[in-house]
Amino acid sequence: MTRIVVVGSINMDLVTVAPRFPAPGETLLGERFLSVHGGKGGNQAVAAARLGADVHMIGVVGDDAFAPSLREGLKQEGVDITHVATIERCSSGTASITVAGGENEIVVVPGANAQLHPSHITKAQHLIECADAVLVQMEIPLETVEATLRTAHAHHVPVILNPAPARQLPMEWLQLARYITPNQHELATLLGADAGEDFRHLMRRAPCPVVLTRGVEGAWFREEGEPQHQPGFAVEAVDSTGAGDTFNAAFAVFLHEGLPVAVRKACASAALSVTRLGARGGMPHPAEVDALLQRQHA
Ligand code: RIB
Repeated sequence: MTRIVVVGSINMDLVTVAPRFPAPGETLLGERFLSVHGGKGGNQAVAAARLGADVHMIGVVGDDAFAPSLREGLKQEGVDITHVATIERCSSGTASITVAGGENEIVVVPGANAQLHPSHITKAQHLIECADAVLVQMEIPLETVEATLRTAHAHHVPVILNPAPARQLPMEWLQLARYITPNQHELATLLGADAGEDFRHLMRRAPCPVVLTRGVEGAWFREEGEPQHQPGFAVEAVDSTGAGDTFNAAFAVFLHEGLPVAVRKACASAALSVTRLGARGGMPHPAEVDALLQRQHA
């Protein structure tokens, strides 16, 4: 069984479904509200577990009313939460999300996630040492991202850096990643480049292999040489929240099958994830991914 360690954020997502996005200063009547488990780290952990991996999460929650439910949500999906710590006198991370026409707008308040420190990585180092792959995103302090990259790299464990939300990083950190998985905007930010620059040029300029996500257009990937394209899979989109997280998780889980296969399965998994409401609502099981791959030979 593929052993995955996820380092990252755990949030409660407060989701409002609206007929459209409100203009600044406008009040709209929404259609539906739900609170569901989210956070890029938690989502990636759950998506990887649903796809059959043995998943260990390194993260934190606060000591508020959301915390027990956030922990339980991970546990019920089979994610090992031994290294999910509680930060006292602190609220758990939250994300206020508006969904309209299958798209979303998100405001994240990190809360406890801002207290996930390098010492948490040191405590869980033994997990990283024997992982098949490590996933890390950027809703946590950057020094913790760095500690994760350095620890995994020192033990020759492939680390997949999902640079979301976008921030600029030292080039040396990117060289520690086995792959980075940005979208175009995130890659431009990482490289300090113009957002309008052709993404294929950006991919060639990156100091490490890149898997670039392009939403419904699928993904592009480059180890060396020219970037290759994997088309997206056609589905009816309900909510795109968590699609990137599902992509990253599937990519990590299927990486041992080779880069093109991992990207193809990641695109199929991400497509399935947008067919239901909530970040984790549509995250697929392997049989659903296989069925989509057979139906659509993208
Ligand atoms: O990637 C989607 C996630 O981003 C949401 O679940 C929300 O919590 C934010 O962290």
